[in-house]
Amino acid sequence: MGKDVIIACDFASKADVMNFLDKFTDCKPFVKIGMELYYAEGPAIVKEIKARGHKIFLDLKLHDIPNTVKKSMAVLSHLDVDMTNLHASGTITMMQAGLEGLTRPDGTRPLLIAVTQLTSTSQERMEADLLINEPIDKVVMHYAKNAASAGLDGVVCSPLEAGKVHETCGEKFLTVTPGVRFADGDIGDQSRVMTPAQAKEIGSDYIVVGRPITAAEDPVAAYKRCVAEFVG
Ligand code: C5P
Repeated sequence: MGKDVIIACDFASKADVMNFLDKFTDCKPFVKIGMELYYAEGPAIVKEIKARGHKIFLDLKLHDIPNTVKKSMAVLSHLDVDMTNLHASGTITMMQAGLEGLTRPDGTRPLLIAVTQLTSTSQERMEADLLINEPIDKVVMHYAKNAASAGLDGVVCSPLEAGKVHETCGEKFLTVTPGVRFADGDIGDQSRVMTPAQAKEIGSDYIVVGRPITAAEDPVAAYKRCVAEFVG
């Protein structure tokens, strides 16, 4: 599995996402479909974008009892996406159930990636709200190890954590990293960011890039710049 740039298609409607994808006439980027678009348009939007030739990361972050996650993943496996995810905090048993559900009768399946601690969760909130009193980076590495032992393919993490995740879980364990910005671009609401070139240097396997591409004056040029910096 080679390095790639995944565009976060955080649009609220089919019209908006298709208008955006229509600009890509000479390439078919890997795209991320999240909860907003999926809940607005349903599974049909996934099938339609797939039929246009894009690889898809379906970012629905499942978290429920193992049986429910298993059955839901079995449904998602029919959508023929390339990557999907769940919360590592649902336990190793839940992750194993998700993996089982996602595996099709012929043994094939999309990549399954775990969310560790959300980057929006601070040390303070984790301690006060979740009663987890360990340092957050230790919690992230522990969840990554749990995901690896459940047989998952990797984790979503900050690019700053990608090197340590590889050290802890092995080079083949995938790191999918949002929080990427061009050196001369706006940070927006992200706080700990890296450029595509820095993410490459530190060993991210996939970078997830939203607004630096979707809000660019020339999204295709911004995408190609990301690919040039990250994939080389
Ligand atoms: O626009 P931007 O590049 O900030 O988009 C990043 C994408 O990655 C968004 O879809 C966001 O929800 C997602 N994401 C993130 N941080 C995480 C997990 C997911 O920014 N920890």
